Amino acid sequence: MSAVGPEAPDLSAARRHAAAAVLDAGTLAYIDGGSGLEETLRANTAAWRRLALQPRVLRDMTVVETATTLLGAPVAAPVALAPTAMHLLADPEGEAATARAAERTGTLLVASQAANRSWQEIADAAPGALRWTQMYMLRDRGLTRELAAYAKDSGSRAIVLCVDGVALPRRSRMDGNAFVPPDGMPFPNLAPASARGRGVELGAAVSAFDPAVTFADLALVKEWSGLPLVVKGVLHARDAVECVDAGADAIAVSNHGGRQLDGCVATADVLAEIADAVGARAEVYVDGGIRTGPDVVKALALGARAAFVGRPALWALAAGGTEGLASYLGELQEDVRRTLAFCGCTSPDAVRGDHVRLRPGP
Ligand SMILES: Cc1cc2nc3c(=O)[nH]c(=O)nc-3n(C[C@H](O)[C@H](O)[C@H](O)COP(=O)(O)O)c2cc1C
Repeated sequence: MSAVGPEAPDLSAARRHAAAAVLDAGTLAYIDGGSGLEETLRANTAAWRRLALQPRVLRDMTVVETATTLLGAPVAAPVALAPTAMHLLADPEGEAATARAAERTGTLLVASQAANRSWQEIADAAPGALRWTQMYMLRDRGLTRELAAYAKDSGSRAIVLCVDGVALPRRSRMDGNAFVPPDGMPFPNLAPASARGRGVELGAAVSAFDPAVTFADLALVKEWSGLPLVVKGVLHARDAVECVDAGADAIAVSNHGGRQLDGCVATADVLAEIADAVGARAEVYVDGGIRTGPDVVKALALGARAAFVGRPALWALAAGGTEGLASYLGELQEDVRRTLAFCGCTSPDAVRGDHVRLRPGP
């Protein structure tokens, strides 16, 4: 404990605590954990803490708006739900419960390809929610093409192609073993329409990801889906530029929450250089260790249009279902609003690069 007492809990800490009381240890380890030594998992949150906001004052903060747009669609705040697998682990209604919370709070939901509910079921559960769909390039290009079209037909407004799945990570908290989901857990969005009801097994799904994916495939995914393309898992400015040259509409700076390559850069440490390199040609987002309103505003100052949260949403969902997730998202939005006001910004667009700087010292 430091001289000033214990660290203050962030908004998600109570949800994590409540989730730990209802989830079994293996499920909690799957959600919380990272790969390898979990260096990157820790670095993600630490990197936000190393940055300090530098507020501006005397700017009339009577009215502060958090609303913004993502690829042209309105959202209540520049904070969104990252794609995470298997929401049945956290709620008996799975992604339907998540979608309702997103709808209620005006939050963008990115539905995972490893969701337990079909993309159409997720759409039907919350028709008013803005939804994008995360996909992997599968070895079976014909199936990938069919699923890209399915994403569009089920009302998704963009495809988020996750490109950091080219090898299998070693997840240390699982003793080096892959997490084994409960029997019968469905993965409908990895199956062709004819087998969607049954879905596929997780093992089959993971071995279906194509490690041969390259920049040249980005145009294909755009063509197959007819939707804007977000490339998720970019950590290098030159890759970001190459994605945009190849047709990407947005870049999600992400290391998968420290779950893939351990020992790699924290997202906060590379965001600015990537956003600078991309400039106005594409939107840039970030995820990894985002926990508070100040984290979100730091991300905006470094050039992101929005920040995404992964684990905290699953904790909130496990702890309190739709209600619990909606209240967490509402509190996070309120934290963004108060942070904007303290920074002298009446909207997300007013945040500038000089609202953030590195803290001095070690
Ligand atoms: C339990 C869990 C499952 C995930 N599943 C997926 C997935 O199916 N697809 C994907 O693109 N990213 C997935 N991610 C990564 C998230 O989209 C996001 O990059 C990461 O969680 C952000 O870090 P944070 O959890 O610190 O907020 C998953 C993350 C977690 C924690």
